[in-house]
Amino acid sequence: MTGLFITFEGPEGAGKSTQVTLLAEWLRARGLEAYTTREPGGTPLGREIRRLLLSQDMSAETEYLLYSADRAEHVRKVVLPALEEGKIVISDRHLDSSLAYQGYGRGLPLDWLRQVAAGAVGSLRPHRTILLDLPPEAGLARLEQHDRLEQEHLEFHQRVRGGYLQLARGEPARYLVVDATQSQQAVQAAIQQALLPMIEEL
Ligand code: TMP
Repeated sequence: MTGLFITFEGPEGAGKSTQVTLLAEWLRARGLEAYTTREPGGTPLGREIRRLLLSQDMSAETEYLLYSADRAEHVRKVVLPALEEGKIVISDRHLDSSLAYQGYGRGLPLDWLRQVAAGAVGSLRPHRTILLDLPPEAGLARLEQHDRLEQEHLEFHQRVRGGYLQLARGEPARYLVVDATQSQQAVQAAIQQALLPMIEEL
């Protein structure tokens, strides 16, 4: 595998999709091939799964298995083939979302999540993960409409945020935590500065 796999994580309303787009534009301006994608919904099947996930009530276990099904398809059909072509793949969310939302948020055992993930994604791990961190109140206030997960109570979102920060502390070499209450430009500048050494090596 020769490409670079970069993931964005964080709560709703953190500005992930804007930052994914800005990062891809910056990389392309440097002559690099960047492919942007997302979970859930990075494949045609994944878009069907996303619709179910965001509209239907379901058990926490079912929810996790559907996110995993989306991820298994996404990794095999999109992420690995693009990495094998040497591209930089930037995904708006990946496995850490499940650890934060279904693990820390819903209380499913992290061990079980990781066992299922070993089958769903194999040994693939992001090279860098950018966590856009901000208080849930701030993120939720930025949204105009709320889907099923966004409607969860504030404590749920606080557990998700705490979970992300714990995951980041456990893997400081992979995670870059950026204060997402800053302006879009400041957030993007911090991301570019942190990624530059890795990009210059490509
Ligand atoms: P998005 O709006 O950022 O695309 O994410 C859709 C929702 O799915 C969001 O509320 C976070 C949630 N989610 C999980 O709960 N677990 C996961 O594994 C993923 C990928 C997303």
